[in-house]
Amino acid sequence: MSVLDTINKNNLPKHLAIIMDGNGRWAKKQGLLRTIGHENGTKSVRVTIESCIKLGIENLTLYAFSTENWNRPKLEVKTLMKILINSLQKELNTFQENNIKLNAIGNIELMPKSAQKELLEVMEKTKNNSKMTLTLALSYGSREEIVNAVKRISDKVKNNIISIDAIDDSIINEHLYTQNLPDVDLLIRTSGEHRISNFLLWQIAYAELFFSEVMWPDFREEHLYEALISYQKRERRFGKTSEQIK
Ligand code: IPE
Ligand code: IPE
Ligand code: MG
Repeated sequence: MSVLDTINKNNLPKHLAIIMDGNGRWAKKQGLLRTIGHENGTKSVRVTIESCIKLGIENLTLYAFSTENWNRPKLEVKTLMKILINSLQKELNTFQENNIKLNAIGNIELMPKSAQKELLEVMEKTKNNSKMTLTLALSYGSREEIVNAVKRISDKVKNNIISIDAIDDSIINEHLYTQNLPDVDLLIRTSGEHRISNFLLWQIAYAELFFSEVMWPDFREEHLYEALISYQKRERRFGKTSEQIK
């Protein structure tokens, strides 16, 4: 029996989110440039997408670039954008063959025009795909997302489109970039860091967290399976008692 067989296909996270961290340290350890780490990280992205498709995970969200990452050295930012554009061009076929719909969350308008164009094109071409939604968090920060939602809701209140009393969880959900996605069930962060770094703060309210020691360029199927096996052993109580769940 392989590890894959030990994963219960009826208890998969509906929404898996990953903080892909450790590219720079992976490269530095080998005396290479940080950007080489980012390039090698794309292999892990591909492997992860393929594994999720094989398992039947419906929503995969990858943290690719944060609002704070804009403060990195110019050359690193430029290389990351170039890697993104190249990957989108290269992976369009994979998306079509595997019935994957591409989605993006974040302040996309801050992205270089060429990256925006490529993103929009791939999103348009894959919009009718339905096996998995792959969401890339780009120029994404959870606080920015919440500020943006508050502004748009306030504007609707001001213009009498919604009343203050009508504001609830679902109204807030509808104004987040993730509006069409279910809450995150499992959040994985690689590279041994135990923090959230401004990722999906609202959406991970009841997510299970899994921290992997592996640097992102080394992340492979077996590491994903390890996280899923851990997830499936947990009892998700959502505030209730263990007896109520059973
Ligand atoms: C993750 O790897 C990729 C991005 C944040 C864009 P890092 O670049 O953060 O790598 P480390 O954490 O410095 O090793
Ligand atoms: C989080 O990683 C952002 C992404 C993985 C895209 P960082 O490497 O930017 O996070 P910090 O700065 O170590 O918290
Ligand atoms: Mg990092």
